[in-house]
Amino acid sequence: MENMDWGALGFDYRKTDANVRYYYTDGKWSEMEVTGDEYIKIHMSASCLHYGIELFEGLKAFRGVDGKVRLFRVEENAKRLQSSAERLCLPVPTIEMIVKACVEVVKRNEKYIPPYGTGASLYLRPVMFGTTAGLGVKPAKDALLIVYCSPVGAYFKDGIKPISVAIDREQDRAAPRGTGDVKVGGNYASSLLSGENGHKLGYSNIMYLDAAEHKYIEECGACNFFGIKEGKYITPKSSSVLPSITNKSLRQLARDMGLEVEDRLIPVEELPTFEECGGCGTAAVISPIGKIFDMQTNDIYEYGTEVGKVCMELYTRLQDIQYGRAEDKYNWCTIVE
Ligand code: PLP
Ligand code: COI
Repeated sequence: MENMDWGALGFDYRKTDANVRYYYTDGKWSEMEVTGDEYIKIHMSASCLHYGIELFEGLKAFRGVDGKVRLFRVEENAKRLQSSAERLCLPVPTIEMIVKACVEVVKRNEKYIPPYGTGASLYLRPVMFGTTAGLGVKPAKDALLIVYCSPVGAYFKDGIKPISVAIDREQDRAAPRGTGDVKVGGNYASSLLSGENGHKLGYSNIMYLDAAEHKYIEECGACNFFGIKEGKYITPKSSSVLPSITNKSLRQLARDMGLEVEDRLIPVEELPTFEECGGCGTAAVISPIGKIFDMQTNDIYEYGTEVGKVCMELYTRLQDIQYGRAEDKYNWCTIVE
């Protein structure tokens, strides 16, 4: 794409050439359909519109230093999509169907994959929802799975920088045994109001506490939380946290760096003891946290204005694999040719 200003891209939808669809009707999946149409036509009484029977995924394809295109951990996203579908009583597509759709979307939109060195990448968005028309609250019998993509810019345009986040005790994101551990639209809808309240005060993300007791740290906006101290990488264990694929990868890289990895409850009182902390996810890889403000107690926790050494090394190691600069020894990348 000669006239694309890759450096100016943000995290926004941009039209590409093709998206891929599977329709579930009469108890079976259709063949994969490829289309250039950005629109869908569904019944006004479709179950996704009324009862939130909707899930999505997010993953990236990177143009590497060697010119090859790498899709990062697509099977993990496919498995998580399956668990979201099960939770919403939607038909469960196979891993093969999902991976095939992701690979096809990357191939068909090759010209939208940002060049190496721009920090930009191709974001893939699988989305699936119930399309059965009706009024009763019950599982959808019909569904549509779409995989589309959009080129997105480098998350940190001027280099990775610590962010400020706010703890909110007035609205929770997800309840124990609710849907916090799957990637369904309702979780994001319920986080909007607290997110807006935080933004008004200048905080980029909300740090959610466990909904039962407000004692333990759960998630940081649409990111998993991790803290570093005494040679340990510590991340919350909770049934209402989304199992982040970035976090899973960082835990492995932390072990490779000689850190001990702990998945456990993290009480709010532990915050002052961390040497570094951050949020992690596909969009940013790592967002180091410089400051945490508790909107109800007014407590402030500070970690400095520079990126910590461990955060920086974890970030570099992961991006090196994604961009083909380091050996992919765990086979995380699928080369798309
Ligand atoms: N937590 C939430 C609530 C998210 O929406 C995301 C984003 O996908 C993550 C964590 C990070 O997950 P992943 O690393 O798989 O992108
Ligand atoms: C991420 O990819 O890290 C996200 O937070 C996804 C978000 C746009 C839902």
